[in-house]
Amino acid sequence: METVSEILAARLQTAFDRVAPGADPVLRPSERADFQANGALALARALGRAPRDLAQEICAHLDLAGVAEVELAGAGFLNVTLSAGFLDERLRALAGDARLGVRPADPVRTVVIDYSAPNVAKEMHVGHLRSTVIGDALARVERLVGNRVIARNHVGDWGTPFGMLIEHLIDQGEDAGSAELAVGDLTAFYQDARAAFDADEAFRERSRARVVALQAGDPETRRLWRLLVDQSVAYFSEVYARLGVTLRSEDIRGESSYNDDLAGVVADLDALGLLVDSDGARCVFPPGFANRDGEPLPLIVQKRDGGFGYAATDLAAVRDRVTRLGADTMLYVVGTPQAQHFSMVFAVARLAGWLPDAVRCEHVAFGNVLGADHKMLKTRSGGTVKLIDLLDEAIARADQALVERGATGDEASRRALAEQIARAAIKYADLSTERQRDYVFDLERMVAFEGDTGPYLQYAHTRVRSILRRAGATTVAPPARFALDEPAERALGRALLDWPDALAATRASAQPHRLCGYLFSLAQAFTAFYEACAVLGAPEPVRTQRLALCDLTARTLAQGLDTLGIEAPERM
Ligand code: ARG
Repeated sequence: METVSEILAARLQTAFDRVAPGADPVLRPSERADFQANGALALARALGRAPRDLAQEICAHLDLAGVAEVELAGAGFLNVTLSAGFLDERLRALAGDARLGVRPADPVRTVVIDYSAPNVAKEMHVGHLRSTVIGDALARVERLVGNRVIARNHVGDWGTPFGMLIEHLIDQGEDAGSAELAVGDLTAFYQDARAAFDADEAFRERSRARVVALQAGDPETRRLWRLLVDQSVAYFSEVYARLGVTLRSEDIRGESSYNDDLAGVVADLDALGLLVDSDGARCVFPPGFANRDGEPLPLIVQKRDGGFGYAATDLAAVRDRVTRLGADTMLYVVGTPQAQHFSMVFAVARLAGWLPDAVRCEHVAFGNVLGADHKMLKTRSGGTVKLIDLLDEAIARADQALVERGATGDEASRRALAEQIARAAIKYADLSTERQRDYVFDLERMVAFEGDTGPYLQYAHTRVRSILRRAGATTVAPPARFALDEPAERALGRALLDWPDALAATRASAQPHRLCGYLFSLAQAFTAFYEACAVLGAPEPVRTQRLALCDLTARTLAQGLDTLGIEAPERM
């Protein structure tokens, strides 16, 4: 099915093309009508014509028969109001469509999403939470349209710190060390290693020698390294399971997994004549990148000591994803501070011919999570806030809210529900802010059942489900016609038709907050409808029609929440 805005855009484009080929109709949702097309204004300016006359001329070419009525307003806006017959036809199609109007991708694309990417033997912090939650939502969005999604968890499992981490593991004893890591005491482990490194020259010496042994593939060193990696990965997996994200251990491709490709990256860049020696380091200077003093910026591919860094690994990963995985789209869900790193890596990959123009490659950047003091979120002692602690606190609050609301039933099921609500609270708060912006981590607001929150949307869904239960309808019969005589009823019908467009806008911008905004307005449209219109007590055929609207609302909310990685319980 074409979406409503696609149908309108196509018809408007035809009319605009008759007057000025290729002119943009500038179609937008509108408060006054359903949509507004403002393109005549800019076009009139460009052509030096009177805007209203031009708009009139466009209208004369516009064929919206059976779809909408158009009204010429103000300086030359076109107000577009969908016709009753069109709404009826579309809603009937929607009611019978298990995909709720979402068209399957054709052709199917391969979308590689790099997300989560915590570091071995280091605590997962709220930045990793953002990457995990946003990346997982984008993965679900792409899967919903039928694309082939390949998740890549680019875990930090290589580099100089591993010398010191392995020596610390040896000093502590393998059993004690791995026990600490397995329970997620990663911060303490890392900090103790760091402290030993800073305090003790002999430890520093051992650490340096250990890095060399690690890189040379010394079996005992590799075994100890594996231990660190495995314990950390076990802990990450537990966090993912508790957060309800779809990342699996098969998705892990740590930095180390590209080791064998790094020498080839350097050799190939060299053969292409892109490598420049700078203070002994081997660099590429992609055009267009300069530091504050206007000097060209290098992307360091191989360090002076011969070691490869973060950039070399990412270049190898680009090649792997394009060549071996056949990526059509690559999304990197990583914090804003790495923006320059990624634009340079992508620029170098394009220069080298490893990243064809046809491949969409995007850094999906995000801002910080702040504490109540509007500074970076930290524990009281200034340490990294553990993700799992945040989740536990959210669960406790959700549980308390359920008790206050007089929840019945056994404790285990209440607890399970509290976990669903807590996950919704944390994920929705993260996803509903425009990702480039910072947000304040405020559990009380996040867990609230009112306002623009995850629990509110879950609750809205349970209310619709309860109406359907009371109707005794396991499957809702499609009505012969959606008349939508009441304004609130029409508004709900309109909102339901917007779901595929909301999804398309989310995909195009990689902005999950658009999906959140859509679901919130759908829930509000439902509330307004339910206040204004009787459902169960309405006479036929209105009752059947309104039950069908309820059913569509419940299905859309459930589908939408699922796409954000949020569960939609039946009762709350
Ligand atoms: N491990 C890195 C960090 O914690 C993020 C890695 C992001 N992905 C990538 N391909 N560089 O900052």
